[in-house]
Amino acid sequence: MDTENKRNSFKGSLGFILAAAGSAVGLGNIWRFPYLAAKDGGGLFLLVYLVLVVTFGFALLTTEISIGRKTKQSPLTAYGNVKKNWGFLGILASLVPMIIMPYYCVIGGWVIKYFVAFLTGQGQAAAEDGYFTSFITGEVSPLIYLVVFLLISAFIVYRGVNKGIESSSKIIMPILLVMIIGISIFSLTISHTDAAGNVRTGIEGMKVYLIPNFDGVTLKSFFGIFIDALGQLFFSLSVAMGIMIAYGSYVRDDDNLVKSINRIELFDTSVAFLAGAMIIPSVFVFMGTEGMGQGPSLMFVSLPKVFMAMGPVGNILGCVFFGMVFFAAMTSAVSIMEAIVSSFIDQFSVSRTKASIIEGVIALVLGIVVCLGYNKWYFEITLPNGAKGQILDIMDYISNNCLMPIVAFLTCILIGWVVKPKYVTDEVEKGGNKFGRKWLYIIMVKFLAPLFLILLLANTLLP
Ligand code: PHE
Repeated sequence: MDTENKRNSFKGSLGFILAAAGSAVGLGNIWRFPYLAAKDGGGLFLLVYLVLVVTFGFALLTTEISIGRKTKQSPLTAYGNVKKNWGFLGILASLVPMIIMPYYCVIGGWVIKYFVAFLTGQGQAAAEDGYFTSFITGEVSPLIYLVVFLLISAFIVYRGVNKGIESSSKIIMPILLVMIIGISIFSLTISHTDAAGNVRTGIEGMKVYLIPNFDGVTLKSFFGIFIDALGQLFFSLSVAMGIMIAYGSYVRDDDNLVKSINRIELFDTSVAFLAGAMIIPSVFVFMGTEGMGQGPSLMFVSLPKVFMAMGPVGNILGCVFFGMVFFAAMTSAVSIMEAIVSSFIDQFSVSRTKASIIEGVIALVLGIVVCLGYNKWYFEITLPNGAKGQILDIMDYISNNCLMPIVAFLTCILIGWVVKPKYVTDEVEKGGNKFGRKWLYIIMVKFLAPLFLILLLANTLLP
């Protein structure tokens, strides 16, 4: 166990790529991407998203991973190391995973619950109306599943960079990929005749997903699609909360960053794309396009119904699906926790064991508060973006909609204007590696990314 301050590193670039992809591939890929794609005109959204991945996403990811590798520090201490007086940004960036971790684990617990339900053949019950609400408003069961999820992720983080994070990602990520490819192919083969006698097939659903729909697209609606893609990308790559700085600090100096970053982006985008290919056709076949909700309603309400409508195979498919979501959520939770634990280790010189226990307890206490928000402490609040929410939604709003764009914006200002992009480009080119999109990186980090982030922030904060 690495209990002292000596910094470990990933053994090879594959370990790093899979760990970072494990962080990036999470609930966002599965429950938000397909919904946005369906809502925003299928292929049109995919196109906008893709362009943003290789420009905006690439710039943010490169920035954070380079800061991590150059400073060899965790987020809390890294920013102050880049430039004196910018330590406050480290605090801000570390605050985000502190807020996200508790509720991410609560949702992770819900995923385990559904996995167990399908595993034990109770898929039918899970597909009933009201099952989800009665589960999350329960006083004991959500807490038990929260504890199980949190314990597993704390255990992986406690095991350390190599024996915990790197080795678990190397096993989990390939399995996840096989599972998601399998289910997407299966969803192409299904068809269903509804009560009115209409037949809908998986292939038709796939067309809804892939073919760009330009009907009625105006400049204003295009801007909406752009903002959706931007927000999604940002969350999906796990940037703006220190994770990629922490993981970057474990990358060996001889690793080719450009290659690794391209692969992380490819992995994350492929899984998001496949999640759409798996979910959109199935929901379309059994519920029509109206079934495409987002977030919990898609995953815990619509999809169980879809699985059960498939007949006997539904229980098995549900089990595989929730197993896969569990893997995706677990590797993300591990990365969120690692950002905090590594910060505690660097800032307070505590052992990894102690840091993992402290963060585990903090996440547990706040996680319990999140669960109480659905029963004893239930209330409804209207968020500035118009959505109604409970404690979980408030935490999500503060971290995702407010803090993350602010952290990313300030990071761009720090690199683009204060220490200058050379800080990052030199790190990327270290050891004679070629940085093919260097010019693009500089334009993005100085001008376009900050502009996009201001637009994103304005869009969420202004009515
Ligand atoms: N990137 C993950 C996803 O797409 C979510 C995540 C966000 C993970 C923030 C870690 C930190 O679901």
